[in-house]
Amino acid sequence: MHPLHRREFLDRLGRASMGLGAAWAAKSSIYCRLGAEPGLQPALAKPALDSSPSNQPTPSSKKWEPISDRKIRFGIVGYGVCRFGAAFGFQDHPNVQIVAVSDLIPERCRELAKACRCEKTYPSLEELVKDPQIEAVFVATDAPSHARHCIEVLRHDKHVMTAVPAVWGSLEEAEKLLETVEKTGLKYMMAETSCFRADCWAMRQIYQAGGFGNLVYTEGEYYHYSPRPIDSFRGWRIGSPPLWYPTHSTAYYVGVTGKRFTSVSCLGFRGNFPAYQPGANRYNNPFTDEVALFQTTEGGTARISMCKSIRGLVAERGRVFGQLGWMDESGYHGAMEKLPETSRPPLPPTVPAGGHGGSHGHLAHEFVCAILEDRQPLIHIYEALAMTVPGIIAHQSALKDGQTMKIPQYDPPRKQAANS
Ligand SMILES: NC(=O)c1ccc[n+]([C@@H]2O[C@H](COP(=O)([O-])OP(=O)(O)OC[C@H]3O[C@@H](n4cnc5c(N)ncnc54)[C@H](O)[C@@H]3O)[C@@H](O)[C@H]2O)c1
Repeated sequence: MHPLHRREFLDRLGRASMGLGAAWAAKSSIYCRLGAEPGLQPALAKPALDSSPSNQPTPSSKKWEPISDRKIRFGIVGYGVCRFGAAFGFQDHPNVQIVAVSDLIPERCRELAKACRCEKTYPSLEELVKDPQIEAVFVATDAPSHARHCIEVLRHDKHVMTAVPAVWGSLEEAEKLLETVEKTGLKYMMAETSCFRADCWAMRQIYQAGGFGNLVYTEGEYYHYSPRPIDSFRGWRIGSPPLWYPTHSTAYYVGVTGKRFTSVSCLGFRGNFPAYQPGANRYNNPFTDEVALFQTTEGGTARISMCKSIRGLVAERGRVFGQLGWMDESGYHGAMEKLPETSRPPLPPTVPAGGHGGSHGHLAHEFVCAILEDRQPLIHIYEALAMTVPGIIAHQSALKDGQTMKIPQYDPPRKQAANS
């Protein structure tokens, strides 16, 4: 294959993600459309600063090859403001049959069934999970219900993929969820979109190949200007603590390295939006914006933020800085001369890459492949909790004016044994 000139590669990447993003966006609400806005295009699509082609991520030469002709029987739940149930392309995957769908709101349930080309509906997740035909469920319900819903699915002997975050502000729920995943031995995956953005994916490949060495410093940022609360099921978004929704940002450290945060000091900003005034939200949360500094298991630091009051700014992005190299929107800069293949795995031609930097289709495909190959999905329970729980502790720190706090650790059993 001819090596693509870097500029050509970047142009193609940008064009492809814009085209797919536009198609997806046409069906979505304004909030969810933000995933396809220019500010949320893959960072690699931005103009280059470093013109050395040998030092840049390479496009894939691989084509998708089927690994099985088996069809996994899926249930899909949740068609809220973001219409997430149908946004990941499960209904278009050659190894998936959608058996049934559900949303508590009948009109949404009907729309979801139509979008998934599926006739069978259930009035709730709780009813759907009783269907013995269904082997796996995608939970795209409201964030406060994720842990409870995933536990319900697993207890009915089905694999589960959930929209982010894994848990909503509760360490007890994290423990319960972990216990259930470990006890059942079923597949659990959190659909963190930043993990499958082109830049974050490339950082992960380069990190694993040794192109950064240990990370000295990382930045992960999620900006979502929202002077008025975005609509949500029973109002869960109204005044919510910013870093209870940390995973788009923490993905730029945990999703790149597979390593962990150990402690945090976080500060909050008290924006003047009505939902954050005293008594205005159920969380007693005064902060519109939170910025946390974490220590990492590599001995480095990570600045992780979630900000809602910076006028007009909507973006999900990150940068990594290591002993041997660094990477930002402009690409890789460092000692590694020949980079590994950094493009995302090929998708079946029927599956659209979708929104949030073309990550949706990849997340669905990864979950399907993990079931077919009987392996852990990339963002398994330990990674999911390691991306979610640090944000909960960061919010506690912000409420205590930045007091340094320890982060509970969630490691796979093998790693735990090695550390003891
Ligand atoms: N980039 C990203 O990864 C990203 C972006 C947007 C949203 N999200 C996540 O996606 C999820 C969905 O977002 P949304 O804005 O559509 O949520 P939403 O609050 O608007 O809607 C949730 C839907 O779940 C349904 N539901 C709740 N309990 C149910 C039950 N027991 N059975 C059946 N249906 C039930 C509700 O009726 C509602 O329609 C959220 O958790 C959000 O955090 C992730």
